Amino acid sequence: MEAETKERIAIVGSGLIGRCWAMLFARAGYFVSIYDIDSEQVKGALAATLPMLLDMESRDLLGGQKASDIQKQIQGTNQLEEAMQGAIHVQECVPESVDLKKRVFAQLDEHASDTVVLSSSTSCIVPSLFTEGLKHRSQCIVAHPVNPPYYIPLVELVPAAWTNPDVVRRTRALMADIGQAPVTLNKEVNGFILNRLQYALIMEAWRLVEDGVCSPEDVDTAMVEGLAPRYSFMGIFETMHLNADGMKDYCERYGANIKTVCETQSPARDLSGRTLSVVDDAMQRKVPVSGLGDRRKWRDRRLAALAVHKMMMKKEEAKSINP
Ligand SMILES: NC(=O)c1ccc[n+]([C@@H]2O[C@H](COP(=O)([O-])OP(=O)(O)OC[C@H]3O[C@@H](n4cnc5c(N)ncnc54)[C@H](O)[C@@H]3O)[C@@H](O)[C@H]2O)c1
Repeated sequence: MEAETKERIAIVGSGLIGRCWAMLFARAGYFVSIYDIDSEQVKGALAATLPMLLDMESRDLLGGQKASDIQKQIQGTNQLEEAMQGAIHVQECVPESVDLKKRVFAQLDEHASDTVVLSSSTSCIVPSLFTEGLKHRSQCIVAHPVNPPYYIPLVELVPAAWTNPDVVRRTRALMADIGQAPVTLNKEVNGFILNRLQYALIMEAWRLVEDGVCSPEDVDTAMVEGLAPRYSFMGIFETMHLNADGMKDYCERYGANIKTVCETQSPARDLSGRTLSVVDDAMQRKVPVSGLGDRRKWRDRRLAALAVHKMMMKKEEAKSINP
């Protein structure tokens, strides 16, 4: 199966996340131009994408396409203007700094057509902080991926107050078209959705250890063997809905107790001091810092296997709806 060739996408910043975006857009048939301030980074990105695509091909995650064909859809350039020429969407992937994002978005603004979407990969900077004074500010949005995006498809879309709703709609449609799972925030909030949920868990895990309730290892076991299996294919609200006779019944039965427990979960703690030593010792026993590289490879293999499983699940569900 070959994806039809679609419009052009520009990637600005060809580090870890820029390379991933390039593969995702190219896999869906878009023509991708990668720009970086450092020409060696562009060369590195072009060299790094083929092995990653081959790995995805071996897991049947390219929809029957050949890695080498997808690679041909990706080109590099050292000229921002050239990268943006004719692009319908620019995905900025430069390091996480408000000042740098401001400078780069000012450059994007100079070369932008009146229709191109200017999208940032920022993990935690709200778009109003770096787009306010721009001529094309209504075309700016955040599209925050999760690493590695080809195995974890969530993309958080965060508009500023001045982002044109049509830009939000077009970006959401584009993300769905490349096989990602977009979610849209209606307004800016620190941490977006994913990190607000993640930080709530981190804080409670910390509190349990700090208050001597249990060990760091047992917190992680509770997550991996308890909460995570369901959450990998079903969300928080659906889990509640299924754990009683529907959502209303769940809230009637458990709501008061949940509120009582949650009232004991403040204030926020500092992630430092003696608890940091306890948690760090536990993690070092499990994975010494020297072994992090191998463990990350193991994590990515498990994520790849999970992505294959979820792809099969979606195919089976689609078949049962349209036999
Ligand atoms: N790494 C992750 O896990 C992750 C996940 C989600 C989102 N993000 C976000 O993606 C963005 C990029 O992160 P990364 O991890 O890919 O960073 P990175 O350091 O791997 O890559 C950044 C790239 O930007 C280039 N660059 C620097 N200044 C530039 C400029 N003025 N113009 C063009 N290119 C420039 C660098 O040469 C480098 O190649 C950040 O905003 C980050 O928060 C990262």
